[in-house]
Amino acid sequence: MKNVLKKIVAVTLSLALVLGTVTTGYAEAKEKNYIYLDNITERLTVAYRLVSGDGVKVAVPANLSAGVDGSNVMNIGWTAVDGAKNYVVYKASKSDGKYTKLGITDINAITDKEVTTGKSYYYKVRALGGVLGHISSPVSQAVVGYTKFAAPTGVSSSFDSSTNQINISWKAVDGASKYYIYKKRWSGEFTKVATAGGTSQGIPVTWNGTYTYKVAAVNAANSKDDVGLMSSETSINVTSIPEVPGNRKKIALTFDDGPGPYTKAIVDCLNGNNSKATFFVVGNRVASYSGVLSYAYQSGHEIANHSYSHPMLTGLDAAGIQEQVSNTDAAISNVIGVNTVLMRPPGGAVNQNVKDNVGKPMINWSIDTLDWKTRNKTATINSVMNNVREGDIILMHDIHRPTMEAVLELVPLLRSEGYEMVTVSELARLKGYNLSNGVLYTSLR
Ligand code: NI
Repeated sequence: MKNVLKKIVAVTLSLALVLGTVTTGYAEAKEKNYIYLDNITERLTVAYRLVSGDGVKVAVPANLSAGVDGSNVMNIGWTAVDGAKNYVVYKASKSDGKYTKLGITDINAITDKEVTTGKSYYYKVRALGGVLGHISSPVSQAVVGYTKFAAPTGVSSSFDSSTNQINISWKAVDGASKYYIYKKRWSGEFTKVATAGGTSQGIPVTWNGTYTYKVAAVNAANSKDDVGLMSSETSINVTSIPEVPGNRKKIALTFDDGPGPYTKAIVDCLNGNNSKATFFVVGNRVASYSGVLSYAYQSGHEIANHSYSHPMLTGLDAAGIQEQVSNTDAAISNVIGVNTVLMRPPGGAVNQNVKDNVGKPMINWSIDTLDWKTRNKTATINSVMNNVREGDIILMHDIHRPTMEAVLELVPLLRSEGYEMVTVSELARLKGYNLSNGVLYTSLR
């Protein structure tokens, strides 16, 4: 009898619990269209079904994936399951290893910070549904995620002048058998230049300059090569490669519309880098900047004619064109003692009348940096470095500060890429051109 009483008490208590559950779960169940119910019998039926899980199935989470972000934190995600309240994620460090609970999440993703570099981790997930979150889907298939290898440490570089190679070495990264070496480009980007099987790599170099590298260990356990975290930079300034005369690729830097307040800094930079340029000067500016014009000429740069007051010569008659040219020559000659050989018409504008009356070879350009328009150092550098090749004539303007700032970086960069900057007349001579009066040239290849 006592047992029967106990049973009754137990059943009553259970029923009370179930009713409580139903009261909170009812709205949700109704909203999700589990069932529409109005009387207590139906509510009790639903209570039974919700608690037991009868008729409420939860799908296995699909599209499970695991991968690390840039700081080596594992991100695990999957497609959200309809009706799931939350998910339980399991983790193992071997595919057939023991899975332990990583965590419970109410969204379809979780992060795992408890990972070490250069390892594999396996994950499974199951969804929990039902009003109480007590109805489980089957556990998903496992997915593997790889952490990146640690950044190599102790990265250093040295130059071997007997082989003209930069030797880069670093400390081994645990578990890695392959490394990528990255070189810093003029843009500041690092691009891959070599793959090493050990902890050192020789990189042949042709030109003196500053070279900067980074190293990363590569995890080949994955089907694709997983590049590890990047080491810190190692830089070396190579100065002992002998110059082979005539070996460099020749180009001509040209500066229009000066002289101006930035011309001297540009000339100083060229002089300091064993480089020459051509200055197409505007005649009516010569008197104000005669000092720097003389300095540029004495330093071996070419001074050329860019008209007296910068009109479009195509709008002038024969006498007007001749006057623009001869007045400029007179102003320049007054300072440096010689007339100019070359002419660049303002705006590069040429027609038959200009050709007939200019009386000099006309030099336009093959690379227009648009420095006057962008007034941006990086844009000017990029426009040259992205396009430059031997025989190019490059158009810049020495009256803009960003152009001067670009030149300070550009000239050593071009040198380290194997270019030699010469005057337009020297470029023509080296390339075998006999420049003719009234003919327009845009490059000298
Ligand atoms: Ni101009």
